[in-house]
Amino acid sequence: EKIGVLMGGPSTEREVSLNTGKAILGALREKGYDAVGIDLDPPRFLEQLRENGVTFVFNAIHGKFGEDGALQGALDLLGIPYTGSGVLASALAMDKSISKRLFQAAGIPTPRAEIYTKADAKRNLVAEIMQKFPIPLVVKAAAQGSSIGVVIVEEESQVQAAVVEAFRYSDCIVVENFIKGKELTVAILGGEPLEVLPIIEIVPHSGRYDYHSKYTKGTTDYIIPARIDDNAAERVRQVAVAAFNLLGCRGVARVDIMLDDDNNPYVLEVNTIPGMTATSLVPKAAAAAGISFADLCERILLIAKE
Ligand code: DAL
Ligand code: MG
Repeated sequence: EKIGVLMGGPSTEREVSLNTGKAILGALREKGYDAVGIDLDPPRFLEQLRENGVTFVFNAIHGKFGEDGALQGALDLLGIPYTGSGVLASALAMDKSISKRLFQAAGIPTPRAEIYTKADAKRNLVAEIMQKFPIPLVVKAAAQGSSIGVVIVEEESQVQAAVVEAFRYSDCIVVENFIKGKELTVAILGGEPLEVLPIIEIVPHSGRYDYHSKYTKGTTDYIIPARIDDNAAERVRQVAVAAFNLLGCRGVARVDIMLDDDNNPYVLEVNTIPGMTATSLVPKAAAAAGISFADLCERILLIAKE
């Protein structure tokens, strides 16, 4: 067996993915697997697999192509097994407007939202948004990661720029209520049975868990387990597992959740290719559960073979 760790590619999260991929590649080699790192070049994808004799793919590509179902579909066609979620779960989770609608339909709590397409943007969206949402509010590109294309709007004068920024990255944007409270994340290992890792509480020093706070060492405190009571923790785990199952995720995924000051959880999104860099969350949650980084990577690999 030859494991191809696919990383990089053309997405906006390319650099993050290269770091995720290199860490995974090192871990698999440490465990004795025959693994090769491949920086995805989409038109050469088939050749890249053949040249390297790849028989199994460890997917470490965040965002476009790697996390949205495209790569999964190509690998299904080729009959090459891979880690993580399949086509449909990947596509549903990557698009925050679609996953939002599904959460709403399934009764999974999520911040109240409106979804706008580029066609809607011909209207005066600022007035519409101001009528529908109190400030602060959040404007998000529907299909991005690492907080790219996400703006927390504190004043009416910022709404227009936030909408323009989000549309730079996606054809569809999500505008939602800002939930004041604790920022939490729940990593789930989706084998049989599911394993929910300890809940992480995220405390960025700047007050904003943006790209900088996500990837610059020392800018964010991670508190594991989160400082919440047992009832709240149980409820958070329940909604995380419900979201994971609703979308049909496999392997590993990380569910981002806000817990308001009355202990109500709100699911923001599900990440099907969560970061595995030095500052990333899933490895921290695994470590808190006594699972080393190398063991975590091996677990994700073995789940794919179940
Ligand atoms: N999109 C980034 C990599 C994450 O969710 O960790
Ligand atoms: Mg995300």
